Amino acid sequence: MEWVRRRARREPVAYIIGRKPFRTLELEVDPRVLIPRPETELLVEAAVELADIGARVHDVGTGSGAVALAIADERPGLRVSASDRSQDAVDVAQRNAQRLGLPVEVTCASGLPEGEYDLVVANLPYIREDEWDGLAPEIREYEARDALVAGEDGLDEIRALVADTPRGTLLALEHAPDQDEAVRKMLADATTREDLAGRARVTIGHVP
Ligand SMILES: C[S@@+](CC[C@H](N)C(=O)[O-])C[C@H]1O[C@@H](n2cnc3c(N)ncnc32)[C@H](O)[C@@H]1O
Repeated sequence: MEWVRRRARREPVAYIIGRKPFRTLELEVDPRVLIPRPETELLVEAAVELADIGARVHDVGTGSGAVALAIADERPGLRVSASDRSQDAVDVAQRNAQRLGLPVEVTCASGLPEGEYDLVVANLPYIREDEWDGLAPEIREYEARDALVAGEDGLDEIRALVADTPRGTLLALEHAPDQDEAVRKMLADATTREDLAGRARVTIGHVP
């Protein structure tokens, strides 16, 4: 009955039950991390296709660990690592990695940690400041604003990551459907992938 009461107050089901399926995995989630979204599965799909065996793949802003853990699960031949600026998120991601028995090292860092990577993937915050008030109560009242919002045009975090990443590195970035052109302009040889509804969702390219 308590669960029904919580849901009636618009708390997301994933926080109530403490779990969320993502690709082949069942992740533990709680309010310390964003609930992984179905559209983010496209980012995993791209990474799994793009990375050759042995490639070093890093997930920036990993939250629950969803993207990094799904990649490691689907392509055991890759060397996958992940990071988040929130120590709370790192704790959740490490616990998920341990529980699922996946060899992903998760560290606390703002931006891209020093190291050499063949592919960097990220689902960073990309919501515009002025969009926040219009979001559903499930999001506004239960998920962390700073895990979702990134400045006036929503691109502050993506711009900072591109600026932080060594030249020539391959980047795969999730973004809002109307940000594809802006993100393509930040990268060289950029291409954008669409989700099943035909919305531009993931842009891939090299850091110029
Ligand atoms: C939109 S959530 C996505 C979480 C996860 N990647 C997913 O897809 O479920 C963004 C995450 O990025 C982290 N983050 C935001 N800015 C960051 C930065 N500059 N460096 C590292 N992590 C960052 C937040 O703490 C949050 O966990």
